[in-house]
Amino acid sequence: MKKVFALNGSPRSNGNTSYLLKSFLNAAEENHAVVKCYDSCKLNISNCNGCLRCNLIKRCSITDDDWPEISQNILDSDVIVFAGPVYFHHFPASVKLVLDRFRSFIKVQITKESIHHEPWTEWKKDFVLLLSMGSSDDIDAKPVIELFEFITDILGPANKLHVISATRLAVNKQISFDGDELDKLYRKLQIPAELAHGDALLNKQRLHDCFDLGHRLTFENKQ
Ligand SMILES: Cc1cc2nc3c(=O)[nH]c(=O)nc-3n(C[C@H](O)[C@H](O)[C@H](O)COP(=O)(O)O)c2cc1C
Repeated sequence: MKKVFALNGSPRSNGNTSYLLKSFLNAAEENHAVVKCYDSCKLNISNCNGCLRCNLIKRCSITDDDWPEISQNILDSDVIVFAGPVYFHHFPASVKLVLDRFRSFIKVQITKESIHHEPWTEWKKDFVLLLSMGSSDDIDAKPVIELFEFITDILGPANKLHVISATRLAVNKQISFDGDELDKLYRKLQIPAELAHGDALLNKQRLHDCFDLGHRLTFENKQ
């Protein structure tokens, strides 16, 4: 059975992110994957305090928050999903708190030329980014994607990164609106209404994409 760790970074529990993530996790559950899903806003994750003791003790020195449980789930999983809205071209701060603690998964060595990263254990995982954003152009998510390219790379060459982004999303649940509902909303928000019906189809397609990816990454051929 595949194990999935998922983090929802949106403060809106019925936000567009939750629809993308639900589609992915529905497929994972259909494949009987073991899913651990958390809301980053509800977690108690301290700031990395920069002590760098992780370079010596091979784990984070902060143990009185949710990181010990979260980190163990991350290490145990085959698939790691970070879902969230794009806030000022990045993930919200509650997700960054989790990402900074990834420092404890690796040994860092400063070299003459640059800096060398080596994970304490072998990582061979599928990383998934499910992004929800207001912009019509997913270039807005470039900093998030580049950060995850960096993280998956320093955690080892066997990791893979998969990205699905959904655009032109502003209000709660918008990704689930049909063409007529979207037309009404676009007129209110002064977005060209002729885009509404095409966007409704595109949003549906994105949810299908999440389901398909969830299915593909958790499928196990029993033969
Ligand atoms: C503080 C804040 C900053 C945002 N910054 C961006 C941005 O830089 N680029 C973008 O495309 N959308 C931006 N958005 C829009 C959200 O990414 C978008 O509405 C998203 O669908 C919200 O996801 P949710 O419904 O899951 O909360 C921002 C929204 C907020 C509240």
